[in-house]
Amino acid sequence: MSEVQPTVTMIAAVARNGVIGDGLTMPWHLSEDLKFFKRTTMGHPMVMGRRTFDSMGALPGRRSVVVTRQHDWSAPGVEVAHSLDEALARVAGAEQVFVVGGGELYRQAMPYAVRLLVTEVDQSPEGSVTFPAIDPEVWTETARDEQPGFAWVTYDRRP
Ligand SMILES: NC(=O)c1ccc[n+]([C@@H]2O[C@H](COP(=O)([O-])OP(=O)(O)OC[C@H]3O[C@@H](n4cnc5c(N)ncnc54)[C@H](OP(=O)(O)O)[C@@H]3O)[C@@H](O)[C@H]2O)c1
Repeated sequence: MSEVQPTVTMIAAVARNGVIGDGLTMPWHLSEDLKFFKRTTMGHPMVMGRRTFDSMGALPGRRSVVVTRQHDWSAPGVEVAHSLDEALARVAGAEQVFVVGGGELYRQAMPYAVRLLVTEVDQSPEGSVTFPAIDPEVWTETARDEQPGFAWVTYDRRP
């Protein structure tokens, strides 16, 4: 029998202008949002691009699968995959997997995702890396929690 495929959720903090980073780091420091990220992803596997791994390193309590095209790449504490499909196959059997960025990975994973957890950041910073467009014909907003300076918004894929 084939293993259960995990539910794919993407989690991202996105500025009003769509920016999520400058290629190296995130343009803001929102400690409440970092705590939200930690409690939401804790105990679940995460898939990330190699550049995002470079920016945040290995996070405790969660399996990290890093996607890279470099066949000689490795880092302590993480698993390596050479395509998004390989990364998702590695976490087969888990109930849920979080795609945690960055821009290149979000674009590729969008078709697999059933839920987007977007922290809408009330800023418009400079930055070359953006979140893909959230098509209202595909996604519907199902929850919104307003906080000072940002909002936690849930989008679910329409049936
Ligand atoms: N605001 C947020 O919530 C958030 C979250 C995460 C990241 N970020 C920001 O996003 C930026 C990084 O995003 P990014 O788009 O530059 O990079 P990224 O998506 O993190 O990583 C891109 C890298 O992933 C690998 N990759 C991508 N697709 C692949 C595929 N199909 N097969 C194999 N490997 C693949 C390649 O690694 P190799 O080059 O090693 O081959 C590629 O260079 C940073 O500024 C970071 O701070 C923001």
